[in-house]
Amino acid sequence: MRRAGNGRRLGRVLRGLLPRGLLGRSVLIILVPMVVLQAVALQLFYGGHLDVISRRLAGGVAGDVAMLVELVRREEPENRAWIFRESLWKLDLALAYEEGARLQFVARPASLPLLPLEEDLNTALWERLRLPFDTDWQSDPRSVIIRVQLPEGVLHVEAPRKRLFSATLYLFVIWLVGSALLLSGVAIVFMKNQVRALRRLADAAEAFGLGRDIGAIKPEGASEVRQAGMAFNRMQERIRRFVGQRTEMLAGISHDLRTPLTRMRLAIAMLPRGPEVEEDLAALTQDVEEMERMTAAYLSFARGEGTEQSRPADLVELVRDVAANARRTGAAVEVAAPEALTMPLRPDAVRRCLGNLIDNAGRHARRIAVGVRTVPRAGEAGPGGVEKLLWAEVTVDDDGPGIPAAEREGAFRPFHSGSPDGTGLGLAIARDIVRAHGGDIALEESPLGGLRARLRLPV
Ligand SMILES: Nc1ncnc2c1ncn2[C@@H]1O[C@H](COP(=O)(O)OP(=O)(O)O)[C@@H](O)[C@H]1O
Ligand SMILES: [Mg+2]
Repeated sequence: MRRAGNGRRLGRVLRGLLPRGLLGRSVLIILVPMVVLQAVALQLFYGGHLDVISRRLAGGVAGDVAMLVELVRREEPENRAWIFRESLWKLDLALAYEEGARLQFVARPASLPLLPLEEDLNTALWERLRLPFDTDWQSDPRSVIIRVQLPEGVLHVEAPRKRLFSATLYLFVIWLVGSALLLSGVAIVFMKNQVRALRRLADAAEAFGLGRDIGAIKPEGASEVRQAGMAFNRMQERIRRFVGQRTEMLAGISHDLRTPLTRMRLAIAMLPRGPEVEEDLAALTQDVEEMERMTAAYLSFARGEGTEQSRPADLVELVRDVAANARRTGAAVEVAAPEALTMPLRPDAVRRCLGNLIDNAGRHARRIAVGVRTVPRAGEAGPGGVEKLLWAEVTVDDDGPGIPAAEREGAFRPFHSGSPDGTGLGLAIARDIVRAHGGDIALEESPLGGLRARLRLPV
């Protein structure tokens, strides 16, 4: 039980450490095996090859030094000049003798990172000399100074580092690190392009979902991403054709119904009158007129919706416009809104939507209050994943009777009208328009006592 919980926690921690983006993940996929591989190679190289080389080089220098020490000790002091000259020429070791000196031991920090040279030289010298000695790697960057304590003085040996050390040792490290950097650089550049193509596709899908006309996208990136892009284009085309066809068909039906309806109204007017049929004729006329109103309302909506393109427009200006129109017909409309709120919209459609809502409020109430504000979309980040997305929220409040909570959803149904002269299309059309913009609309209780229509549009 406990173990399972720990495992889950570990999994969560690991997932938290993993980069979330595709770019980060794919670079990780390339880098992790390479770094592991190189670590293994480095371990093999340093653990095997380097040790052997380093020990052999140190052994060579230590052997020469031991031989020279032996020579200096055994030969007469007048021969020393000859020994020193020969060692410089033939062994590349510079010697100096300090008569009567004593070796001072000072602790020195290691000066060569990563390489075991110092230790190897000390071990090799100790094995061969068995005399007190001291090595100095700090005084000269190109050589190492070995001091050996002889009975009557100190022998200084200056050996070039080249004899102990090969630059390829560092080159190998540089090669490993350099190739890792190069590879990740190349991976980042290539993956960035792939990720950009995917991100564009995601943005296009998002925009299309919000009812913004984006046109066909250019397929780019790897063949799978291209394929997704082309599939998206085909889907977009099919949906557009389907919506267009539907709108056209409904507009056609509404249009074609008008002629027989007109004929019916005329025929009713021509019918012989009489007190016994008067009431039925009046009801019949009313029905036909209602049908005419409905088809006309639907027709004007369908005609507008089919062709209008989304473009940046100021929502606040639209709201003020519609409110001013409503005031002209005698309604008391207040507007509370920011300076401006520009966003991609189909202005005529939004105007019709707001008009329907304000018209409804005007029919049922005396006071109307319209508010515009922006609210953050809960839990949603923008296409770049950085900034928060916003809703533009418009509320239309009135102080009328309102609609009981249970009947609010039903009021959106087409041709569902509570008034004898209504078409029942007002709210249905308003919702259709808002949803085509990627938003939604809801009916609530208003703080003014009547109905509140709250609609949200993605900014
Ligand atoms: N502001 C409002 N206050 C009270 N009732 C409303 C309000 N708005 C709409 N309604 C009710 O919802 C019904 C549907 O409205 P709508 O779809 O606009 O059709 P219509 O206005 O043509 O009847 C209305 O008939 C009315 O009964
Ligand atoms: Mg209405």
